[in-house]
Amino acid sequence: MKLVTYFVLLVYFSNSVLSEKLRYDNYTVFKIHVENSVQVKLLRDLQDTDFRFDFWTHPDHRSKFVQVMASPEDRADLQKLLTENNMNAEISMSNVQEFINKQTLKRYTRNNIGSMTWDAYYSLDDIYAWIDDVVAQYPNVATKVIGGQTYEGREIVGIKISHGEGKKNIFIEGGIHAREWISPATVCYIINELLTSQVQEIMAAAIDFEWHIFPVANPDGYVFSVESERFWRKNRRVFSEGIGVDLNRNWNSNWLVHGASTSPSSEVYAGPGPFSEIETRSMARYMREIGDQMEIFLTFHSYGQMLLLPFGNTSEPLANYDEAMNIGRRAMGALSVRYGTEYVTGNIVEVLYEATGGTDEWVKEHLHVPIVYCYELRDRFQYGFLLPPEQILPTGQETMDSVVDIIHQMRRFGILTSAGMAFKASTMLILGMVISFFV
Ligand code: ARG
Ligand code: ZN
Repeated sequence: MKLVTYFVLLVYFSNSVLSEKLRYDNYTVFKIHVENSVQVKLLRDLQDTDFRFDFWTHPDHRSKFVQVMASPEDRADLQKLLTENNMNAEISMSNVQEFINKQTLKRYTRNNIGSMTWDAYYSLDDIYAWIDDVVAQYPNVATKVIGGQTYEGREIVGIKISHGEGKKNIFIEGGIHAREWISPATVCYIINELLTSQVQEIMAAAIDFEWHIFPVANPDGYVFSVESERFWRKNRRVFSEGIGVDLNRNWNSNWLVHGASTSPSSEVYAGPGPFSEIETRSMARYMREIGDQMEIFLTFHSYGQMLLLPFGNTSEPLANYDEAMNIGRRAMGALSVRYGTEYVTGNIVEVLYEATGGTDEWVKEHLHVPIVYCYELRDRFQYGFLLPPEQILPTGQETMDSVVDIIHQMRRFGILTSAGMAFKASTMLILGMVISFFV
């Protein structure tokens, strides 16, 4: 064979190896019970030193469990370590590949928005094609918007839903962490409800606000998670010491203060500087444009069933914490009605762990948005990132119930400054002035 043929074969072979999908046959996910700070420390040391184990959740005294994935070769070592340290663990999944197979993507049929069903996950291309078709179907209310750009040259595509000018806005971010597939799915479900629902409250929510919704804030990462490595979290920027920045540590708010790393090989790499990433930088530019009209910001992550309030560096009740807690708790009550799904509401530091540089914190600190929540969607230490597709619809429904209730509660608390309310406020002001003139 000629040398050039060898070369062509080599390039072909290495490319096919590079783009091959990693498999997780007989990988095990353990659900480890964490009972004291000694055990937390032990697991954290393991997380920092032994890269054979994939920590699905971060060991912390605030959570009762940690989920860790081990390959069939390394599984015994992990089990030994657990028994030596008297730690209880259950097996959540004994063959991870089996659950990955259950998430095999369904193809979306062009020009048929109903062919996106809520019992399957979809590729980025299909989500984007669906958005194009949705916009074509509802041209008077829906517009395609570009929120930003990615490292690999993709667009961060979103949808604006608006029934008229001059409304306050609600911003929704999904999919900033690539492997949390239920997030884009739920956000697409919300888009669909806002446009198609016949439920009075949902129709009112759609009409009363201008919605800016981005199902996939980390497109490069999502594509990589779909095509190559299911458990990829970060973006795909290449550094000499590793790949990817955790975009939810890259925002310019308490950057690198807590729960973030300076190492490109870390899952929580904060990047070389605040807003070093084109994804966060370009999205921030978009958000600043509409920031002073933003009433609600919601970001969707998974998993753990939590509703988190900023900030991630302190449990101090900053800004309108009490109000946000009240509204959040009630909204999670509304979420639980349909299927009994229980959420914990609280400040990030209080209920999860210290972590800064997230979208939610930047929005609260720099845009001063009244209601800022981070959802950690289903489930609670069972399937984790591999939430079965049968749970997409119920997750979407209960989440939509809570979004509607947030709006409802905000009206009750009188913190929605809709056009009507603004009118009322100005009338009261003038009335007050007139009265004070006479007394
Ligand atoms: N699981 C998410 C993360 O670790 C939670 C984000 C909460 N917000 C925050 N600013 N830490 O990124
Ligand atoms: Zn996340």
